[in-house]
Amino acid sequence: MNDSLNEPGLQITVILLLLPIIFALILILVKVNRMISETLKKKELKRIYEHLSRLEPGEISALEERKKELEFQLSGSELSGNRTVKDPRGLIDKANEIHEIRFLQSKRKEDDKIKIPDDEKKLVLWFLGCSVFWLLLGTTVGEYLGIKFVAPDADHLSWLSFGRLRPVHTNMVFWGWASMAMVGFSYYVIPRVGNTKIFNLKIGYISLILMNSAVFLGSICLMAGVNNSGGEYREYIWPVMSLFASGIALSIYNHIRTIEFRKTKEIYVSNWYVVSAMMYVVVILIVAYLPFWQDGLGETITQGYFMHQGVGMWFMFFNLGLMYYFLPQELNSPVYSYSLSILAFWTQILFYTLIGTHHFIFSAIPWWMQTIAIVASVGMVIPVTAGSVNFMMTIRGSWHRLKFSYVLPFYVVSVIFYFTGSMQGTVEAFRTTNLLWHFTDFTVAHSHLTMYGIITFMLWSFAYTLIPRLTSYEPPSITVGLHFWMALIGILVYTISLMIGSTEKGMLWMDKKPFIEGVVLMMPFWLWRAIGGTMMWISHIIFAYNFYRMICPRKGIRIPESPSEILEIIHTQQNKS
Ligand code: HEM
Ligand code: HEM
Repeated sequence: MNDSLNEPGLQITVILLLLPIIFALILILVKVNRMISETLKKKELKRIYEHLSRLEPGEISALEERKKELEFQLSGSELSGNRTVKDPRGLIDKANEIHEIRFLQSKRKEDDKIKIPDDEKKLVLWFLGCSVFWLLLGTTVGEYLGIKFVAPDADHLSWLSFGRLRPVHTNMVFWGWASMAMVGFSYYVIPRVGNTKIFNLKIGYISLILMNSAVFLGSICLMAGVNNSGGEYREYIWPVMSLFASGIALSIYNHIRTIEFRKTKEIYVSNWYVVSAMMYVVVILIVAYLPFWQDGLGETITQGYFMHQGVGMWFMFFNLGLMYYFLPQELNSPVYSYSLSILAFWTQILFYTLIGTHHFIFSAIPWWMQTIAIVASVGMVIPVTAGSVNFMMTIRGSWHRLKFSYVLPFYVVSVIFYFTGSMQGTVEAFRTTNLLWHFTDFTVAHSHLTMYGIITFMLWSFAYTLIPRLTSYEPPSITVGLHFWMALIGILVYTISLMIGSTEKGMLWMDKKPFIEGVVLMMPFWLWRAIGGTMMWISHIIFAYNFYRMICPRKGIRIPESPSEILEIIHTQQNKS
């Protein structure tokens, strides 16, 4: 017994399991604290009400007088008379800004609730709600997989074995989290940029049900050992994946009809990207599942095509489209260059569709085909740079907003990861580097740097931009700040540790050292990955809480403080009696 307690794997697992328990205990403490303070506030409020009901008329008019004083405002033309006021440097307008960068920013309240039909709002929120659920569940599985690297004997159940849970994690975060959130946002963006309504809400709900059923059934099947036995990210059996594809096909139909009935002449660039991504994903899924390319080298080429078209032409293309809508909306300024966005659109289609075989450098696939993939991977520098520059130039002039916006840091981080993560991909495709990194954990670091750093951070930016505007409920700045920092530090710890470890492992293999030495070498790096992963996972719980606060406001007890609040109570009491 004592021996097993000394096992580092067991100790680490216990620590990792303790983290959420401690977190839950803190939550309980916060709840109890709130309950006590609410009860005290209730008592205080009762006392205030009683006191106010006994106020003399003189005291009430003194309050009215004070209220007037407090609400007094200059007309704005005292100094200029009838001339127009000019304040190009914002010396007066921005006099109230706070000038030190805060870690947990308090955010300016959104001015206006966006006016869209309630039933459209509901559909968008349903999509987003389901995606948050899958993010939580999918990354709980990811967290457990990370723990298994440091404690491989954590369980001995076939349903929870590494080989079965890994695809549960990847497919759940791909199709459940990222895809569902993206389609949800598109149900908001497509009608807005066409100044029209969603063509058919019922189709939207059917699409949501089909996508959810695919992820649910797919995960159960994978855990039970029923899979496609094909390559990565297409492990769901074909009947399950066809549910997902039909869901997407229905949404494409809905979107195209919505665009058809648009009231604007132009088709805004977001719609170019979003609709193309949806068309691509159906093509990609069909190619990946058609039976006649599933043997020998053909299967390998199909796998490469599927994997990178999946991440590039589905996740990346779709999110870029959403970025071109939400970033300008958040900043309240136009996209820097429409032409750059179109250049990025066409060059991405040209190069991304050719890079599939860079996953299999030095394989038996024809050498010329690998070379084309490497050249196209370098070509990707064009759309990635065009996109990143366009986003950064759109943000320029708004850097001061980083101080008081909790949303902008999410955008900035996602754009930085867009550039660095993609450039890392280009570098990985070279023969010399691929020789070192392929088969190591470097690929896992790259997957998370991109799917997490780019896609997930972008989706969070959109969520914090859109949901408060839809519901007019803001999440608490402190929990958004916590979400941001835990996720950012977590992903950096996760990826940097894996990149260092895998480079050392690759060099060790090139020195022809025994395989097991590489495993031993990776142990501390896997531990760091588990720690980074735990931070990311906790940040998702906080995000789920923020999501809840954005759709359901907290009904707290407020003690009146200002004269106008006190007078409001007095007037209600007078009206009642
Ligand atoms: C310029 C753009 C990019 C290039 C050239 C590129 C290149 C690569 C290469 C060469 C690999 C294979 C590494 C190996 O197996 O040795 C890879 C893997 C991967 N990339 Fe990228 N990448 C790019 C952008 C992205 C983006 C934007 C995403 C996600 C949105 C992404 C997600 C992935 C994933 C998930 C894998 C792992 C696939 C697997 O399971 O084997 N990449 N990338
Ligand atoms: C708490 C957060 C997360 C943790 C702890 C986590 C952990 C893991 C682990 C342990 C693996 C297996 C790696 C291996 O086989 O060596 C994995 C694979 C993967 N995860 Fe995550 N993950 C998280 C979040 C996400 C998210 C949000 C996404 C995408 C949106 C994602 C996408 C992937 C992909 C694409 C792979 C396959 C990697 C490859 O083959 O290169 N993960 N993850």
